Amino acid sequence: MDTAGKVIKCRAAVAWTVHQPLIIEEVEVQPPKAHEVRIKIISSGICRTDDHALHGDMENMNFPVILGHEGAGVVESVGEQVTDLKPGDKVIPLCIPQCGKCSSCLSPNTNCCLKTHMHEAQNVMPDKTSRFSCKGKVVYHFLWTSTFSEFTVVPTDAVAKIDDRAPLDKACLFGCGFPTGYGAAVNTAKVEPGSTCAVFGLGTIGLSTIIGCKLCGASRIIAIDINRDKFEKAKEFGATECINPKEYSKPIEEVIIEMTGEGVHYSFECIGRTDTMKAALECTHMGYGTSVIIGGAPPNAHITFDPYLLFTGRTWKGSIFGGWKSKDCVPRLVSEYLSNKYNLDGLVSHTLPLDNINEGFRLLQSGKSIRTILML
Ligand code: APR
Ligand code: ZN
Ligand code: ZN
Repeated sequence: MDTAGKVIKCRAAVAWTVHQPLIIEEVEVQPPKAHEVRIKIISSGICRTDDHALHGDMENMNFPVILGHEGAGVVESVGEQVTDLKPGDKVIPLCIPQCGKCSSCLSPNTNCCLKTHMHEAQNVMPDKTSRFSCKGKVVYHFLWTSTFSEFTVVPTDAVAKIDDRAPLDKACLFGCGFPTGYGAAVNTAKVEPGSTCAVFGLGTIGLSTIIGCKLCGASRIIAIDINRDKFEKAKEFGATECINPKEYSKPIEEVIIEMTGEGVHYSFECIGRTDTMKAALECTHMGYGTSVIIGGAPPNAHITFDPYLLFTGRTWKGSIFGGWKSKDCVPRLVSEYLSNKYNLDGLVSHTLPLDNINEGFRLLQSGKSIRTILML
């Protein structure tokens, strides 16, 4: 059946209001307008950021909303003036767009396009309207991706076309988790061979950071988590030591400095807490240590810290989407995956049908899952 140009009715997980379980509903999805495509989503990972959004811990949230920002699928139809994508293309919606025109996109030194949700709200399409409705009500977009729906509409600036051979049940990992952690090590920190690293938090982001540190040739990778169950996986991916802050009476930064003598070369905060961001900075070498913030802190969070920590030479950086210029780099990462540069199987702990999405969120909240992938 040719659906191009028509409204599609399909199933989606709707978050009607903050803190409430998602409800699988029949929604209407409008055809894409100019510079937009409609995508049939095949798989979608549940990320911590979706959970934050559901609990109101994100700016620019409107309800009802269709969450989800780590998906993979196939282009169903394209709007006017779309030249780089066609129906049938395998694609990944991008939670950080690459418009190619803004000052950030034109700079080689950042991937943080000014069309990101931190700069302009992405709860509606660029023309300020939504393509989703349900029971006569407007349903809002999330990060322009809304991948917890069988069909979604995305501006082409936020869509990467990937290799036809990519397995769409796993490719969703390239929409957020893997590029974010891996890129923080290889692009943002530029970890050097033989260096020492500390990775705080061992979810999908932390484990992907470990993959990056290992591929860069780090000699020691110290993994930190308050949940011991995460240690086995961390070691599989390349952690050389695993430590639990709860098992020490002194602060974890002191433990790491003792373990390494003078602190690590690189540290990564993959949790999203201000106290661990500070600890991650403090555990680096006072002269040449670099600490990278990857975890998203709650809105309005602030940190106070001793400026001498930086005065002596430490560098404090942030990394969004691993520093990758998304539209250009995601296809490259997928191709490297297809040539077996990295094995990501260990990142997927559960696979569930869309119907069980609330179970997926519970697994995330309880710390029992790494990535749960929903099959739509
Ligand atoms: N100290 C050490 N580890 C902690 C602490 C703490 N105080 N608090 C939580 N953790 C661990 C959890 O046990 C968990 O293993 O941090 C890990 C975080 O993993 P996930 O919740 O699975 O999160 P992930 O998807 O990896 O994302 C991490 O990056 O994208 C952002 O918003 C996202 O802030 C989140 C962060
Ligand atoms: Zn841009
Ligand atoms: Zn994410």
